[in-house]
Amino acid sequence: MPVSQSAIRLTSHLDHDYLRQALEHDVRSGLASTPKSLPPKWFYDAVGSELFSQITRLPEYYPTRRELAILREHAGDIAGRSGADTLVELGSGTSEKTVLLLDALAGAGTLRAYTPVDVDAVTLGDAARRLTARYPGLDVHAVCADFERHLALLPREGRRMVAFLGGTIGNLDPAAREVFLKELRATLGPGDSFLLGADLVKDTGRLVAAYDDAAGVTAAFNRNVLYVINRELNADFDPDSFEHVALYDLRQNWIEMRLRATRAMRVRIGGLDLSVSFTAGEEMRTEISAKFHPEGLHRELVAAGFTPTRHYTDPTGDFSLILSHT
Ligand code: SAH
Ligand code: TRP
Repeated sequence: MPVSQSAIRLTSHLDHDYLRQALEHDVRSGLASTPKSLPPKWFYDAVGSELFSQITRLPEYYPTRRELAILREHAGDIAGRSGADTLVELGSGTSEKTVLLLDALAGAGTLRAYTPVDVDAVTLGDAARRLTARYPGLDVHAVCADFERHLALLPREGRRMVAFLGGTIGNLDPAAREVFLKELRATLGPGDSFLLGADLVKDTGRLVAAYDDAAGVTAAFNRNVLYVINRELNADFDPDSFEHVALYDLRQNWIEMRLRATRAMRVRIGGLDLSVSFTAGEEMRTEISAKFHPEGLHRELVAAGFTPTRHYTDPTGDFSLILSHT
């Protein structure tokens, strides 16, 4: 048998200047709007990714366990139906669940390449190295990029399955979600497929608990965005003076994460030459996490030009994975 050499490549579309400009723009426009908001992708520096990893193991945070259960049951079917030789994963993070898909594609005899895509270069590099060691011969091409900006720049070789797991689709607002799905569809060709993981509408109490855990890990994750801004933009937010708020908006069907100022404050953001005031009790939105009805997701995929072919769920019906073809 020929001995194959492990390969690992890293491409970055997020150089320091780009990140800096994007962060400056997002913080300036978010803090100038009423109510104030901050965009979620800035949660994920190395500390934020580690906190998110802890979230996935919390008793209240069911999505990761449910998605894993679905993959354990159906990864073989998904791999077979996709026929993919290349797995592209958007927002791959630690790539923990991905191993089930890679094993299934390897078992089907088609696996050749894996392209994890994430904004957090540190976690991306760690995951790429780990998977290269686990799958000798796998062509791992990690891409540090923003999936809201750089889809058109992702590698196009091979018969691809794009995986977007963890319910991250729910972190895009409906307009951004529509743009994202259309842009993604435009990058795929005949034979390619799309595996989407999405959290489903359920009892409000369980939803809120998943984003407001007893140990306070989600609260620390939420506040991390303030540490990122302090460090990167030379700001003086006092994170301890902001409390974590998670509420479920029943009309929009989404969890909203906010940071609430516990006192009146003035914050200086040196890097933007900007000062902003907060009134006591003022809330700033940091994240939404939309929850779906399967029919709604199906409709959105069709509207973006996909053909949903398979819908998988776990025995409790908490979470869903939808496989679409082009
Ligand atoms: N897929 C993993 C991680 C989900 S957390 C899981 O299912 O557990 C969301 C991941 O998406 C994080 O790793 C974060 O760094 C990444 N991310 C968030 N916004 C992004 C963006 N705009 N472009 C690329 N990656 C992004
Ligand atoms: N994609 C994950 C979700 O929506 C991200 C997430 C989990 C998250 N917990 C969070 C984002 C808390 C911000 C704050 O479930």
